[in-house]
Amino acid sequence: MNVNTNKLKELIELRANARLGGGQKRIDAQHAKGKYTARERIEMLLDEGSFEELDMFVTHRCNNFGLENEKYLGDGVVTGSGTIDGRLVYVFAQDFTVFGGSLSETMALKICKVMDMAMKMGAPIIGINDSGGARIQEGVSSLAGYAEIFERNILASGLIPQISAIFGPCAGGAVYSPALTDFILMTEQNSYMFVTGPKVVKSVTGETISTEDLGGATMHSSKSGVSHFRVKDEKIGIETIRNLIGYLPQNNLEEAPIEVCSDPIDRLDDDLNSIIPDSPNKPYDMKDIISRIVDCGKYLEIHEDYARNIICCFARFNGISTGIVANQPNYLAGVLDCDSSRKAARFVRFCDAFNIPVLTLVDVPGFLPGSNQEYNGIITHGAKLMFAYGEATVPKITITIRKSYGGAHDVMSCKQLRGDFNYAWPTAEIAVMGASGAIEVLEGKNISTITDADEKAKFIAEKVDDYTNKFANPYQAAALGYIDDIIEPRNTRFRIIRSFQALQTKKLVNPLKKHSNIPL
Ligand code: HXC
Repeated sequence: MNVNTNKLKELIELRANARLGGGQKRIDAQHAKGKYTARERIEMLLDEGSFEELDMFVTHRCNNFGLENEKYLGDGVVTGSGTIDGRLVYVFAQDFTVFGGSLSETMALKICKVMDMAMKMGAPIIGINDSGGARIQEGVSSLAGYAEIFERNILASGLIPQISAIFGPCAGGAVYSPALTDFILMTEQNSYMFVTGPKVVKSVTGETISTEDLGGATMHSSKSGVSHFRVKDEKIGIETIRNLIGYLPQNNLEEAPIEVCSDPIDRLDDDLNSIIPDSPNKPYDMKDIISRIVDCGKYLEIHEDYARNIICCFARFNGISTGIVANQPNYLAGVLDCDSSRKAARFVRFCDAFNIPVLTLVDVPGFLPGSNQEYNGIITHGAKLMFAYGEATVPKITITIRKSYGGAHDVMSCKQLRGDFNYAWPTAEIAVMGASGAIEVLEGKNISTITDADEKAKFIAEKVDDYTNKFANPYQAAALGYIDDIIEPRNTRFRIIRSFQALQTKKLVNPLKKHSNIPL
C-alpha cells in the first residue's frame, strides 16, 4: 500500500466514523424512540445525492468534566447545503446522539457558518432541532453561541426564508432560534418546546402539567400559535417542508418559482353562484371557495388549528404562488379577534417581505366584542393586521364574499389601504354595522315610545328592511369607487388571474425610513 492509499483509507475511515455520530448504540436508541438521526433527516429532506456536508471534522474544544476525552467528529450537528426540487437550500440538523444534540461553542460556529452562507448566497435555511439545550459542560460559551445564532436569525429575517423543524426537545433559551424564524413545524410524537419544563414549573408555581400539555405540538399549534404546522411524524414533516419551499422564493429579491399550470385559467365554477346560504347568519366553509378557485384545488394551510376564524394559506393562480387570507364563517362566524389578527398580520408581512401577492377573501361580521378581547389588547392586535396590509407593497386583491362590517371592513385590505383591485360578489354586505344594531342606535328613542309589542316589532322590522335594502349590498361602496367591480362568483378564478397579471409590473415603494414601528 502506498502512502496515498493509506491517507485515503484514513479519510474514508474518519468519514465513516463521523457518520456514526455518537455511535451505533445511541443511533439505535434514537430509532427506538421513533426518531430518525440527523443525517437520515437531511437525506429525506434534500434531493437524492445533493447533500454537500461541511465541517465534518469539527470537534468541541471543552476541557471540563472529562469532556476532553470524549470527542465526536462533527460534534452535535450536521450542516451543509443541498437542493429541494433542484433549488439550493442550506440546512443544519442537531444530532441527538452526540451529547443529546446539546449546543457547544463549535456547534454554534458550524450553524452560524451555514446561516452566513445562506444569507450570502440568498438561499433558504432549514434548521432541524433535536437538542437538550445548552451544553452544560461549556457554560457561558454555549450561551454566547446561542446568541450568535439568534443575531443571525434576526439579520436573516426578511432576507431569506427560515424554516424550523422541531423533531425532539427544544427547551429553555434554545426555543428562541426557531421562534425568530418564519415557520415552525412540530411532530405530534417526541417534539416539545418550552421556556421552562414541567419540573421547574412545578417547583416555582406548584402547577402540575405534562410535557405534552406544556409544550407539545398540539398545544403549540392550537393554543399558543408558536407552531405553524403540526404533523403526525417526521416523514410527513419533511414532505411538508419540501412542499412549503415550493411556494417561496429563494430570497427577498426574487420571485417564487412559477409552476406549469394544468388548470384552465378561465375555468368557470357554476356552484360558486349558489354557495352562499340564503340566511346571512348561516355559516359555510370558506375552504370550499378557496379550493374551487385556486390551481387544481391545491393549497397549503399555515396555522391550520390556531385562530381558525381566519384562514392563511399558500396556493397558486396560473402557477404563481399567492398568499390567501380569508375569514372563516364556519368558526366564530369569521370574527376578527386578538389571535386571528396576529396570525394574519404575520402572514401578510411574510408574503410582503418575499414578493408573494396577497388575495384576501372577506366575510367578517366585525371584531369580537367583550372584556376578554379588550384586556388582551384587541386594539393593538387589530392594528397589527391593519398595519401589515397598509404597509404591504405586493399586489393585493380583495374580494368581499359576504359581510364586511365596521372597522373590520377597513382592516381586511380595503381599497384605502392601497388595495389594488377590490371586488365584491353580489352577496356582499358592506356597511358600518349590521341592520339590527344600526336600527337600535338610530331609532332607539322612537322604538321606546311605542308601547304596543306588535306595533314595535313591525316598526323595527320595517326599519331593518329599509336599512338592509340600502346598505346590506355592495352597490353603495361600488358607487363610490371603493369597490372596483361586482363580479359573478363563478368567474372569480378568471378575474383573480387576470388582475394579478395586470399587477405584474406594479411598482410601489414606501417612504424611506430606518424601519416602521408596527404595534407589536
Ligand atoms: C450536555 C447533555 C445535555 C446537555 C443531554 N445531554 N442534555 N449533555 N448538556 N444540555 C446528554 C446526556 O448526558 C446523555 O448523554 C445524552 O445527552 C442523552 O440524554 P438523555 O438524558 O439520556 O436522553 P433523554 O432521556 O431522551 O432526555 C433528553 C433530555 C434530557 C430531556 C433533553 O437529557 C435533559 O433534560 N437534558 C438537560 C436539559 C437542560 O437542562 N438543558 C439546559 C437547558 S438551559 P449520554 O452520554 O448518556 O448519551 C438552556 C439555556 C439556553 O438550554 C439559553 C440560550 C439563550
